[in-house]
Amino acid sequence: MRGGFKVRVPFEGYKTKVVEPIPWTTREYREAALERCAYNFFSLRSDEVTIDLLTDSGTGAMSQEQWAALFRGDEAYAGAASFFRFREAVRSITGYQEVLPTHQGRAAEHVLFRLLAGPDKVVLSNALFDTTRAHVEDSGAVGMDLPCSESLSLYREDPFKGNIDVARLEEVLEELGPGRVGVVIVTVTNNSAGGQPVAMSNLREASRICREREVPFFLDACRFAENAYLIQQRETEFMNRQPADIAREMFSLADGCTMSAKKDGLANIGGFLALNDPALAKRARELVTLYEGFPTYGGLAGRDLEAISVGLREALDEHYLADRIETVAFLGTELAKRGVPLVRPFGGHAIYIDGRAFLPHLPPEAYPAQALGCALYLEGGIRSVEVGNLMLGKEGAPAPFDLLRLAIPRRVYSRAQLTFVAETAGKLVEHREDIPGLRLVERPDVLPHFRARFSLRTKTSIAASVT
Ligand code: F0G
Repeated sequence: MRGGFKVRVPFEGYKTKVVEPIPWTTREYREAALERCAYNFFSLRSDEVTIDLLTDSGTGAMSQEQWAALFRGDEAYAGAASFFRFREAVRSITGYQEVLPTHQGRAAEHVLFRLLAGPDKVVLSNALFDTTRAHVEDSGAVGMDLPCSESLSLYREDPFKGNIDVARLEEVLEELGPGRVGVVIVTVTNNSAGGQPVAMSNLREASRICREREVPFFLDACRFAENAYLIQQRETEFMNRQPADIAREMFSLADGCTMSAKKDGLANIGGFLALNDPALAKRARELVTLYEGFPTYGGLAGRDLEAISVGLREALDEHYLADRIETVAFLGTELAKRGVPLVRPFGGHAIYIDGRAFLPHLPPEAYPAQALGCALYLEGGIRSVEVGNLMLGKEGAPAPFDLLRLAIPRRVYSRAQLTFVAETAGKLVEHREDIPGLRLVERPDVLPHFRARFSLRTKTSIAASVT
């Protein structure tokens, strides 16, 4: 069903088979819930949330084929048939021969950085996601982001704002000299700055630079299928190629990948490390055995391996991807119509609101994106997540922006539900100057956004801000 034209999906690309009720709460309830949670959305219970856009990770709906596959799950401790099916799925999609399941993405990162990072090493990236950076640092290494300059202009319409700055990459590798850089890892799509894709041309360049210097080059492949689809849509050379074929070429440029199957594996849990080097894989297998479990299950049940094997293939279906990317763009378009300032162009898995532009009366110290997230929850029971100073900032190195991410779970919410999200944000536009800022009262050292605590900056009740 294609050949150089865009697949169109005019409505949700699936039918409903099992339903889950939507939780409803009153404004008074939500106000008390925010106060109880110290204005941190990770402390809310999911039954206090009407539309949950906290993350697209592990929150998708599985297909009938995935549910059916669960019954094939072989729960043998060692050598389970499910592992061999899983390995075959990963091999056929990535081309990597060595496949190590892990319980989720960060577990694969843990193993990889134990082997390739460590004290005195530097890890270079287009943008390390927060858990990835935490694992780099936990190994004793330093993580350094080299995003392309376009990514810093939130409103520029460049097609590939997820790119790594290849000129800087070359310079930094020269400056640091041989042996200092443990691994270069490119995140596809770039989650920290708008879910923006990385171009194949950029991956080719980065790969060439790393291979010339014999520096290991890996992908953080959580959203590899969305990246492949956006390459098909935005990079002329690939307009007639299938997403699976594009993905295969992306993987071929790297030495391996870490993967959270909770995203483009369309599963609720799981991940893997995949690579080609048998010697490195042997050492990785030892660590997987120590931290995750025997290397044929890696912390997962056999049925999880089955669900991922099916999900990875479904994630590359062109109609699924067209629906997915158009659904994200639908929310973006509805929000933009209502005057909400958004990161452009719309990316793969989420829409990002520019918190500083939405709430210009709040300085960055008042956490404008988090404050906006509180107002969105109060007004409509919608949960989002801050990607800004709280998540990415460091003492003395504040994040360059304060974004509020509305991540869209896969195959879960209808366009009517997303219209409600846009309408709710639209109401806030009219009352924006009444939305109070936040004061950070507790900032844990590791992954602060999960457990940070806030208080309101003004005495005004947050409820008075939105009517
Ligand atoms: N890399 C990226 C780019 C991610 O977005 C995530 C998770 C991980 C690695 C870690 O994977 O959760 O399976 O351990 N991102 C989620 C999010 C949590 O909300 O964006 P994990």
